[in-house]
Amino acid sequence: MKEHTIKLAILKTLSTGDFISGEELGEQLGVSRAAISKHIKGIQDWGIDIFRVQGKGYQLSQPLQLLDESILKASLNAPVELIPIIDSTNQYLLDRVNELESGSVCIAEYQAKGRGRRGREWVSPFGSNLYMSMFWRLDAGMAAAMGLSLVVGVAIVEALEKLGLNGVKLKWPNDLYYQDRKLAGILVEMSGQAGGAANLVIGMGMNLMMSEQTEGITQPWASLAEVADKEHIDRNQLAITMINTLNNALNDYEIYGMSGFVERWNRLDNFLGRPIKLIMGPREITGIAKGINEQGAVLLETENGVESFIGGEISLRGTES
Ligand code: ATP
Ligand code: BTN
Repeated sequence: MKEHTIKLAILKTLSTGDFISGEELGEQLGVSRAAISKHIKGIQDWGIDIFRVQGKGYQLSQPLQLLDESILKASLNAPVELIPIIDSTNQYLLDRVNELESGSVCIAEYQAKGRGRRGREWVSPFGSNLYMSMFWRLDAGMAAAMGLSLVVGVAIVEALEKLGLNGVKLKWPNDLYYQDRKLAGILVEMSGQAGGAANLVIGMGMNLMMSEQTEGITQPWASLAEVADKEHIDRNQLAITMINTLNNALNDYEIYGMSGFVERWNRLDNFLGRPIKLIMGPREITGIAKGINEQGAVLLETENGVESFIGGEISLRGTES
């Protein structure tokens, strides 16, 4: 982690969006100008757009609002760790489930190996998005994990609504969509059972102000900056509201199960009443989306009537457009 200290200090200085020369940065941090130039290259590899103007120095293409562990800790009841540079916040918690209290959170500025469902990559450039994971010990065990993952999506959209950010929808099982493009992804992973309880790690990556030039994403995506004015997105506040809302929703789910959540999920369904197709390996089924049921299955109106489908290997796609 130490190797990143200088890079993070450079970013903190540059985060205001002002110019600063290599010489000044070197003096501040007690390293040579050549070392600064090397660190700047490393920072660019994290997906940050920094440029240099002769005679003026370095500048970020847009100011950065960095996450602040003391602000997060002050407003959260659950233990939280900010680890700016990490492989994957999900993996970090999975490696520590035996030491963690249920509700513990890990949050990062950059993931070198961010992952999505089915081993796909989650593109995670530094500072522009949110990457966080929560450990949850689910007393009801594995059988309740499917419902839990739907509850997570509802909680995150409702957290945005609390902040006045409207128009974000859900795609079954738990992606967040804005104007038919992917805004955030949720990945729930399990690390064994303890007694009857399931040890789950719930990860969420949400795009906030990701650069249009970002490479490596294979489908249309959206950023929260389209929903809200960029200047009004406070990353620390957003993380706090999401974590607290998620914690409350998970506690409610443990007590009441899916009742109540089905209607809340259906209200937010991106495809409700629209033609969709479900892809299950080589099989494709088309029909009209009818929301979900109490088991968390997706409902599809086909020529055989309303049918329910459940399982981790199903992909849902809109057929319009
Ligand atoms: P499904 O599981 O229903 O097929 P999906 O197509 O969204 O849904 P996932 O495996 O859930 O697929 O998510 C991974 C997808 O997300 C990949 O297509 C990947 O390119 C894309 N992706 C990766 N990083 C980001 C990001 N930061 N923002 C939006 N999408 C991303
Ligand atoms: C998906 O849509 O496929 C799920 C994406 C989940 C991404 C988040 S970012 C924080 C956490 N750490 C990871 O490595 N993945 C999840």
